[in-house]
Amino acid sequence: MKTAIYPGSFDPVTYGHLDIIRRAASVFDELIVSVLDNVRKTPLFSVDERVKILKKATMDIPNVKIESFSGLLVDYARTRDVHVIVRGLRAITDFEYELQNAQTNRLLSRGELDTMFFTTSLEYAYLSSTTVREIASFGGDITGCVPDFVGEMICHKFGIQHERCRNEQ
Ligand code: PNS
Repeated sequence: MKTAIYPGSFDPVTYGHLDIIRRAASVFDELIVSVLDNVRKTPLFSVDERVKILKKATMDIPNVKIESFSGLLVDYARTRDVHVIVRGLRAITDFEYELQNAQTNRLLSRGELDTMFFTTSLEYAYLSSTTVREIASFGGDITGCVPDFVGEMICHKFGIQHERCRNEQ
């Protein structure tokens, strides 16, 4: 069985991430989407919340599993006996950071962990979790950025009435 890990912060998960998840899940037998528990960052959503959100957002994709991890990605991948990492590439600005991470992971794993990149669909090329948090924090419209239920949870976090920034039905 060919399994890959798609690691990330997913704070919050966006339609861009979900697009990558769907496409990667159609390439691999199993895709483990794993939320990094980064003690050095203060996230909008806790790791448990992000895991729950991802489970709900991907419940229609049977070969997707949601987990969390802390520490080095290579160590986590080794515990799952996985040798492929999936990442999305939006633009050239992502490339340097992603290349550095991919090379580091190959080095740390002594060549056992490769990274496969999926180019982000053009309609999501502008999208990032940071942008979504920024827009929502000012009560802006995040329609088309995240699933409805995630939009409502974000607005709740910022204490903004749903009507201000929730996706229109
Ligand atoms: O969604 P993000 O924040 O861009 O994801 C970054 C992530 C989680 C893939 C990356 O920070 C990571 O793998 N962190 C784990 C620590 C690690 O292994 N670092 C060495 C590789 S550079």
